[in-house]
Amino acid sequence: MVIAIDGPAGAGKSTVARTLAQQLGFTYLDSGAMYRCVALISRARPEVAAAELAKAARIELGGGTDAPATRPGPGSVVMLDGRDVTEAIRTPDISQAASQVAADPGVRTAIVARQRELIARGDWVVEGRDIGTVVAPHADLKIFLTADPQERARRRAAELGVDPGSVLEDMERRDERDAAREHSPMVAAQDALLIDTTGLEVQDVIGRIAQLARRLRADLGDAPAS
Ligand code: DC
Repeated sequence: MVIAIDGPAGAGKSTVARTLAQQLGFTYLDSGAMYRCVALISRARPEVAAAELAKAARIELGGGTDAPATRPGPGSVVMLDGRDVTEAIRTPDISQAASQVAADPGVRTAIVARQRELIARGDWVVEGRDIGTVVAPHADLKIFLTADPQERARRRAAELGVDPGSVLEDMERRDERDAAREHSPMVAAQDALLIDTTGLEVQDVIGRIAQLARRLRADLGDAPAS
């Protein structure tokens, strides 16, 4: 079973997706970490086409749904070509660079192929921008999380320990680029459930999605989720 969680930065995707995976016993996939890895190598090797780097990169996601949900960023360990880049891919600079590199159709083709291969078997909660539309259009459950920009900036700033004003501008720039790009823009799938998390407790959002997933599982006749 695949649950897709899409939406803009700071909408609560990471916390929701990771905790949900923990609760349901699914594997968590942070698709954005892959674009962040491509951005990082692309910075180091600007002379090579980003799509080539995306194809060749050895990206290992710690998968583990055991990282505490409150940790900034998705939390699990990310290895790139054998190097631990967990922290290096979370800087504001790499956030912008990831959004830029993610607009490259060659990069997307390479990364989407890997993501599809990963989630072909087993139960997954996948977070990103194009999961419900492109990576897993047949996902069993699609959620699009939003929240008003001020609140998203506040949450992001609290995670990073910085001023919300500085985060807001960066975040809006990134969201505009992610939503306006020609290839696989960030958009809610037609059959996605839209949840505006402004003013909601994250636990309530998780509870609601978990309930939907359990019901769906029961309808599908699978073993009941824990
Ligand atoms: O989810 P994140 O903030 O770690 O993602 C970083 C960037 O990667 C984001 O600004 C756009 C891109 N991205 C994407 O284009 N498609 C995805 N499925 C996930 C991320």
